[in-house]
Amino acid sequence: MKFLIVLALIGAAAATPLSADQAALVKGAWDKVKTSEVEILAAVFTAYPDIQAKFPAFAGKDLASVKGSAAFALHATRIVSFISEVISLSGNSATAPAIETLATELASNHKNRGVTQAQFNEFRTALTNYVSSNASWGDNVASAWNQAFDNVYAIIFARL
Ligand code: HEM
Repeated sequence: MKFLIVLALIGAAAATPLSADQAALVKGAWDKVKTSEVEILAAVFTAYPDIQAKFPAFAGKDLASVKGSAAFALHATRIVSFISEVISLSGNSATAPAIETLATELASNHKNRGVTQAQFNEFRTALTNYVSSNASWGDNVASAWNQAFDNVYAIIFARL
């Protein structure tokens, strides 16, 4: 019995890598939005102004006034490119270490900026809402998408 409980706990903690089919679903959804960098960051800031407040370049400013700036486009592109890179590496066990390296760097940069797990979860909610309303979405896509986030967030949260 104790053995089974230990197994269940290990199972809950370990990442479940995406299958090739799941990775294809995530890529398909992401491909529909990945060139809408500015709209994505604007949707995140609109839903969660506390995230905007952490960016020195945008804190305390009206979103409408910064959304069209080059600085905004640059930040939006950095964030979206990071996600594109992680997604392009998913669904392949050989590239799992590369995902771990990227997620570890992101955690360390953001830890230094005082970004919290709660804010990362807010970002996830806003991004998932954006993608699910701008790509074809169903239970299979949602489940693959959530698995991908669970895996990467497990790495980030262990280091944040
Ligand atoms: C959830 C709350 C988050 C906050 C408050 C936050 C905040 C910040 C800040 C303040 C910067 C520095 C901007 C500057 O140079 O002035 C930054 C950079 C960056 N963020 Fe975030 N971030 C968050 C989540 C994320 C997530 C989830 C990703 C990726 C999926 C991400 C990707 C990046 C990247 C790639 C950079 C540029 C490289 C770097 O300096 O680390 N951020 N972020």
